Formats: sequence, C-alpha cells, structure tokens
Amino acid sequence: MNHLLPWRVAAWALGVVPLAFAVKWTFQSLLGPNPVEFLEHYTGDWTLRLLLTTLAMTPLRKVTRLSEPIRVRRILGLWTYAFLCLHFSIYLVFDLGLSVAQLGADLVKRTYITLGFSAWLMLLPLAITSTNAWQRRLKRRWVTLHQLIYPAAILGCTHYYWLVKADTREPLIYLAILLALLAFRVQSVGISLRRRREQPPAVRVQIETMSASTSSERP
Ligand code: HEM
Repeated sequence: MNHLLPWRVAAWALGVVPLAFAVKWTFQSLLGPNPVEFLEHYTGDWTLRLLLTTLAMTPLRKVTRLSEPIRVRRILGLWTYAFLCLHFSIYLVFDLGLSVAQLGADLVKRTYITLGFSAWLMLLPLAITSTNAWQRRLKRRWVTLHQLIYPAAILGCTHYYWLVKADTREPLIYLAILLALLAFRVQSVGISLRRRREQPPAVRVQIETMSASTSSERP
C-alpha cells in the first residue's frame, strides 16, 4: 500500500475541487449579481486557505512524525500560487482593464493592494525555484529562500484584514491561525538550535556536514 497516495490525492483535490466549482458556477451563471467581485473574493479566500494549509504541513509532520505532509507541501504551495495568480489576474483584467498605470496608482493609494502585491512578488521566486533541479542548484540557500513563505503569509493575512471594512472576525481568525503556526515554527527552531548547541563540537560538525549534504527539508 502506497501511504503517500491518499495524501497526494487530498493535496490535488484541495486545488482541483474549488477550481472546478468556480468554472462550473461561471458557466452556469451562478456567480450572483457581481461575478467579478464573487470570483475575486472566492480566489482570495482559497489562496489564504491553501497558504495556511501549506504552512501547516511542517507542524503536522512534527506532531505525527509522518513524512507524507512534507512530501505533498510542494503540490499545496503550487496550488496556492495558482490561485493567487488567478486572484491577481481577475483584479488586473476586470478591475483595471490591464492598465499598468492604474496598477501603479493603486499600489500607491491602496495599502491592501500594496500588501497583496508584495506577497505575490515574494512568492514568485518560490514558485520558480520549486523544482528539484533548483533545489539541487541552490542547496542550503534554497531552504533560506523558501523561508519567504512566512513574511508572504503575514502580508497576505494583513492584506485581507486591511481591506475588510466592517466585520473583521474572519480575517482575525486567519491571522490567529497564522500566528499559531508561526509560534510552533519559532519554538521548534529554538529547540533544534538548543539541541545543536548542547552537542559536543565534533558531533555538531558531523551533524552540520550531514544535513548540508542530505537536506531536502523545506521551510
Ligand atoms: C498572498 C496574497 C494574497 C492573499 C492571501 C489574498 C487574499 C484575499 C482575500 C482573503 C480577500 C477577501 C476575500 C473575501 O472578502 O471573502 C481578497 C480580496 C481582494 N484582493 Fe487579495 N490576496 C492576495 C493578494 C492580492 C493581490 C496580489 C492583489 C492585487 C494586486 C489582490 C487584490 C485583491 C482585491 C482587489 C480584493 C477585493 C477587494 C474588495 O472587494 O474590496 N490580492 N484577497
């Protein structure tokens, strides 16, 4: 029995199912009185859900001691970026009519656009370097680069909080989940640094050499 298969199916389903619904509702004209606004919000919501699910894979691996969450993280990360590009494109095409000047004006005038756009820019190199070839080429720098997912997630959540005018409960729930995931990450990095410091120097050098040559760990 391949234990990875159900994880892969679930990771693909998290991207394919919401996309299929968006396509189905579009063709059936079920997007309500303002289809552009509906799709903008729908893709924004799914970007955030997928982003937080991607970030949850490391804690899940640590808690369950299973390797599968780490092995489906790339699929989830790429679906996150696909939804983010859709979200961005809907705004660019339907709100701005592809006007770069208008985008520049919005970036200056609207803080939530500045925050969202910065998150998109930060995640771009992660999507480009997501292949095994880039991972091998960049070695340890790849792990450092992919830590950008954390500030990008903070920007994404703040973007949502900023654009909501009245009821901030939902963006605050997403922010709370993100903070919990970040706290877990900071705590586990602290523990591994402490463990490393407690090792005798010879063992430490050996561990560092081994992890530099074998690590395929993603942030
Ligand atoms: C990681 C990055 C991003 C995340 C997580 C994200 C998430 C979201 C969420 C959750 C919403 C609100 C959905 C709702 O109300 O149900 C939203 C709305 C929106 N986002 Fe983003 N977004 C991101 C990046 C961007 C970018 C790059 C742009 C464009 C430059 C953008 C433009 C918009 C616009 C125009 C809206 C609708 C605002 C309104 O209706 O008043 N977002 N986004």
